[in-house]
Amino acid sequence: MLKVEHLTKQYRNVVAVDDISFTLNKGDIVGLLGPNGAGKSTTIKTIVGLLRKTAGVITIDNYPNTSLEAKKRFTYVPEAPELYDMLTVWEHLQFIGYAYDVANFEEKAERLIERYDLWDKRDILSKELSKGMKQKVSICCALLPEPDLYLFDEPMIGLDPKSIRETKLIFKELSEQQKTVLVSTHLLDSIENLCQRVLVMKNGKIIVDMAMEEMKRELGNSENVSLEDLFLEVTKDE
Ligand SMILES: Nc1ncnc2c1ncn2[C@@H]1O[C@H](COP(=O)(O)OP(=O)(O)O)[C@@H](O)[C@H]1O
Ligand SMILES: [Mg+2]
Repeated sequence: MLKVEHLTKQYRNVVAVDDISFTLNKGDIVGLLGPNGAGKSTTIKTIVGLLRKTAGVITIDNYPNTSLEAKKRFTYVPEAPELYDMLTVWEHLQFIGYAYDVANFEEKAERLIERYDLWDKRDILSKELSKGMKQKVSICCALLPEPDLYLFDEPMIGLDPKSIRETKLIFKELSEQQKTVLVSTHLLDSIENLCQRVLVMKNGKIIVDMAMEEMKRELGNSENVSLEDLFLEVTKDE
């Protein structure tokens, strides 16, 4: 579904992503982990075409990532929500519904804003929403077109516990529908029982690409090892 080959992204004098390769298949829910500055957001922004890659090849369903065919197949939740100040919650969903020609968008949009407790906020302008509410609108907008690939950059940041649980449920549902999810996070417990596979980045490189079970086995004693333990072990400085 998503193939990243030898991707490098260099800002002026910083190599933010350094020759990484990975493939995501249909139905995969993959956690993209790594300390601050590891290159997670840069990787995701390059995949969605917001940043130009320095080198490498990215394909989505075999289409080059910047082609229209590729763009029809994915959705993206940015690290910080980018909404239109002067549109209401409902108007955002309406806009996405029309722009992506979503069938039965009203029904789907109502369901989403109910799940995220935004129903009584639907006529509020986005500039009047709290940060967490904006994040929820951003997630609802991303889910509405129901494409095959979902790229979420730190989606849990700012969400209340109910919305975190709802988001996790939605990831599970997406996986059951054979959709593909890449979710970057440094909130490890939010994905511990969710992702079947983790990619760990550090200094622009992928230092671990493993099934969650395998990763636990590597460090032995799977009952008592948390993802946090594993993460701190693999990312510690030598
Ligand atoms: N616009 C930018 N210009 C220059 N350097 C940047 C820019 N954005 C990110 N970086 C640098 O790239 C590296 C990776 O950042 P980022 O991808 O945001 O990491 P993460 O999302 O894992 O925290 C960091 O060293 C960061 O300082
Ligand atoms: Mg980031």
